[in-house]
Amino acid sequence: MTNCKFPKKFIWGAAAASYQIEGAWKADGKGESIWDRFSHTPGKIARGETGDVACDHYHKYKEDVELIKQIGLHAYRLSVSWPRIFPNGAGKVNPKGLDFYDRLIDELLKNDITPFVTLYHWDLPQKLEDKGGWRNKATSYAFADYAKEFTKHFSDRVTHWMTQNEMICASDAGYKKGSQAPGAKEDVKTVNQVRHNLMLAHGLGVLAIRANTKKKCEVGLAHNSGLMIPKTKSKKDLAALKLAYEDSRNWDSNGWWLEPIFNGSYPTQAWENYGKNVPAITPKEMKIISTPIDFYGLNVYFGELVEGFYKDGKLNYREAPYPKNHPKTSMDWDINTECTYYGIKFISENYKVKKFYITENGAAFNDVVSKDGRVHDKVRVKFLKSHVASAHRLFKDGINLAGYFVWSLMDNYEWAFGYDKRFGLIYVDYKNNQKRILKDSALWYKEVIKNNAVKI
Ligand code: FCB
Repeated sequence: MTNCKFPKKFIWGAAAASYQIEGAWKADGKGESIWDRFSHTPGKIARGETGDVACDHYHKYKEDVELIKQIGLHAYRLSVSWPRIFPNGAGKVNPKGLDFYDRLIDELLKNDITPFVTLYHWDLPQKLEDKGGWRNKATSYAFADYAKEFTKHFSDRVTHWMTQNEMICASDAGYKKGSQAPGAKEDVKTVNQVRHNLMLAHGLGVLAIRANTKKKCEVGLAHNSGLMIPKTKSKKDLAALKLAYEDSRNWDSNGWWLEPIFNGSYPTQAWENYGKNVPAITPKEMKIISTPIDFYGLNVYFGELVEGFYKDGKLNYREAPYPKNHPKTSMDWDINTECTYYGIKFISENYKVKKFYITENGAAFNDVVSKDGRVHDKVRVKFLKSHVASAHRLFKDGINLAGYFVWSLMDNYEWAFGYDKRFGLIYVDYKNNQKRILKDSALWYKEVIKNNAVKI
């Protein structure tokens, strides 16, 4: 058995997002979000489930913070519901919306838990969507105002900020495939504009937070880059992986986002390929988007296998399918925990990243409450343990990984899949008065945090 020890100040946390846990969708003056609208539209969500009540975290936040404390988490990554703060997306602030986050953040701090705050985890005010939503640059500027107001109010207590979560889901699932809110299916040019406007909002958000913070803080984002893993450790596959990652600097899944954020321009090849479908941009916007960030947060779930092959004496790469019987999570995602190591290594080799966090990592399995009243989620423990060990490898390469957040703190509303995909460290019994049960994975994680180490 090896004991993987983590650096002294390593941050162990867990994450969740407003729409997925809060419920209280109309409480205290909250405006409608695109997720309220989408989930109430027949046929969009499995079993017609909505986030109207979710985990009722809005009312149960004290109990939830108590559980966070019990697990021993150093930090909790939460997101803010924009329409709680600005019911109309812009204009007048709703003081009761601020009050909720005051209560939650104060409760966290009282218990020595550091809040990591994400400003946008997909619940856009519907009022802004009615005016065009992310298709319009006006929404990016509305986001900047929201970031400013929120920072002014909370930066005496919040010092870790993320602007956006997984922009590619907000754009492509939301405005291209239509599988997530607002459920639009736009043409290529519009989708590219949505992507650009999300990035612009990110950049404006970074500037707004820095300009209005009362305390020294760190600002970044949480993103899901496309991750790849070598099929074998042969020289050929490792060299092929390098080629694939280099090429991915032109792909939608990687370079389309990373190049503007880190290098201030869209990848040349990809830009040319899009031809007349490129978004409308200005040099000033590119400068805003590439405002240096303090950290890059990577959400890690799965990766594709890559293998090398020779053609005309030249090394090439291709995706290698996982075998049919390869283990999967209940999301049908192939399990391969090495994506944590190879994914972050790639980003760190190609972009100047000062600091990384793993802002999400976890898996849905079909958890059940056993006769003893506990949830013995052995497979999740195995999954998380192996990812944490994969993350540990990064230290040998001198990479500054500063923290790790499990997705998720508790079972919650998994977007269009509804409630049956359980990702939590805490089991939520939705039918039994929202009872919370610490799963075995939570108890395992408690030990990891206590020892600042994982045994594999
Ligand atoms: C990520 C999302 C998060 C959750 C997990 C499973 O893409 O950021 O809200 O749904 O996937």
